[in-house]
Amino acid sequence: MKQIGTFILVLLAINLATSQITIPIQKRIPQDTNESNSFLEDQDQIAVDKLINHSLQMYSGDIQLGNSKKTFTVDFDSGSNLLWLTSKNCPSCVKDGFKNSYDCSAQDGCTLTNIPAQVQYGGGAAVKGHIARVPISIAGKGPVTEALLLVEKSVNNKGLQSDGLMGLGVYDENDTDKVAFVNKLFKQGFIPKSQFSFYLGFGQSDSELVIGGVDTSKLANPSEIYYHPIILNGQHNDSQRWRVAFKSVSFGNQSVTLTSQNTGIVDSGTTLAYIRNDVYKKWISYLKTVATLKAIPAGLSTFYSVKCGTTLPDLTFTLTDVNGVERNYALPSSFYILNQDNTCIIGIQGNSVSSDIQFLLGDVFMRRFVSVFDYTNLQMGLSVSVADPATAPTLESNKRSHHYAALLLGLVAISGLIFITLRALRK
Ligand SMILES: *[C@@H]1O[C@H](CO)[C@@H](O)[C@H](O)[C@H]1NC(C)=O
Ligand SMILES: *[C@@H]1O[C@H](CO)[C@@H](O)[C@H](O)[C@H]1NC(C)=O
Ligand SMILES: *[C@@H]1O[C@H](CO)[C@@H](O)[C@H](O)[C@H]1NC(C)=O
Ligand SMILES: *[C@@H]1O[C@H](CO)[C@@H](O)[C@H](O)[C@H]1NC(C)=O
Ligand SMILES: *[C@@H]1O[C@H](CO)[C@@H](O)[C@H](O)[C@H]1NC(C)=O
Repeated sequence: MKQIGTFILVLLAINLATSQITIPIQKRIPQDTNESNSFLEDQDQIAVDKLINHSLQMYSGDIQLGNSKKTFTVDFDSGSNLLWLTSKNCPSCVKDGFKNSYDCSAQDGCTLTNIPAQVQYGGGAAVKGHIARVPISIAGKGPVTEALLLVEKSVNNKGLQSDGLMGLGVYDENDTDKVAFVNKLFKQGFIPKSQFSFYLGFGQSDSELVIGGVDTSKLANPSEIYYHPIILNGQHNDSQRWRVAFKSVSFGNQSVTLTSQNTGIVDSGTTLAYIRNDVYKKWISYLKTVATLKAIPAGLSTFYSVKCGTTLPDLTFTLTDVNGVERNYALPSSFYILNQDNTCIIGIQGNSVSSDIQFLLGDVFMRRFVSVFDYTNLQMGLSVSVADPATAPTLESNKRSHHYAALLLGLVAISGLIFITLRALRK
């Protein structure tokens, strides 16, 4: 009797310890910036400026730090490897608007090292500090001790409204064993599978990060989830990304065949999608034969808008799965055209990066496909999502649509976050 009781208890304990966890993630609410852009004449230019400047569309959720289990809101980024939060000794962080700093102390289980680290952003923004080791928990699971970049200097990070960023990379170069957070949760028995997955919805708070599995209720067809092998470079550092090979990109009656050197990442830290420049140019030329595109210059790049309500052909990415079968991932225009205050902008850009990573498929792509990042088999899975662009609230006649439009759409994230990726690619 007693033994059975113990047995049941043990089973219960295992069961409790190993269920997958769902972290609600929010599109961050943009600051109530002065919408004094009305003096600008050109609505298109305003729309693009906002797309770039507001840069406030990151998906963030909560983690707990230290023995005190203090909660911090971080942007979850599948495209980078490091966790960073601001330290209490950082006047520039306060100036940049960071509200919650982490106080690394021995009582809290935190050890500060003298290892310097920094992340540099595109437009001259950066975070700099030292590596700390600290117990981290998520949704009551953990803690596991992981590396943290404790920021002592923030450069040009105004408007970033989370407390920091959590990279969910393949390896954590700054961890003693190079083991990334999710994999460590698995190794220590907190989750049933060594993987995490993203479901990104069109609403403000209907998105999820699932740790330890996949939320099958978010898959349009749960039996159709295909995995693609991660291309390994043998390094257990930041140079190893969740990189997969692209077989071809097609649109209309055209198809651009790629080689095994042509790889890409599915990156929650990038709001739009970026495809290799020559492919992009072909695609835009093709689109011009089927619709009227209006060019909107934006600094060094050009955006294109179409008349709202226009349906364009799908843009299809073909990847070979772990069984050698080619799988097509078709992105409908309802996913890649972003309605910004009634200016409908194509949310895919050309990527001039000449390294092997030529495709950065950000939130625009991730709303169409639930993505799974698997440490055990080092593979990345994709499956058509239930997310429906038709359910995105329309706020055309709303007086405050400026504010809400920024909420609804997958806009360019902190442009720096894109550049974290680009910068690292250039290395
Ligand atoms: C908006 O602009 C006004 C006048 O320029 C200024 O006083 C106010 O502080 C601004 N508000 C924000 C949120 O920036
Ligand atoms: C966007 O940023 C640029 C450069 O910082 C600035 O000149 C422009 O006025 C901004 N546009 C809007 C709409 O905020
Ligand atoms: C930690 O990360 C930084 C990059 O941010 C790197 O320069 C440093 O060498 C890393 N190494 C260790 C052991 O933490
Ligand atoms: C990763 O490690 C390799 C070999 O030690 C080194 O050559 C490379 O520069 C490193 N890359 C990064 C991004 O740290
Ligand atoms: C695609 O179709 C158009 C019009 O039907 C045709 O002019 C063009 O040559 C075709 N291109 C290819 C690559 O087949």
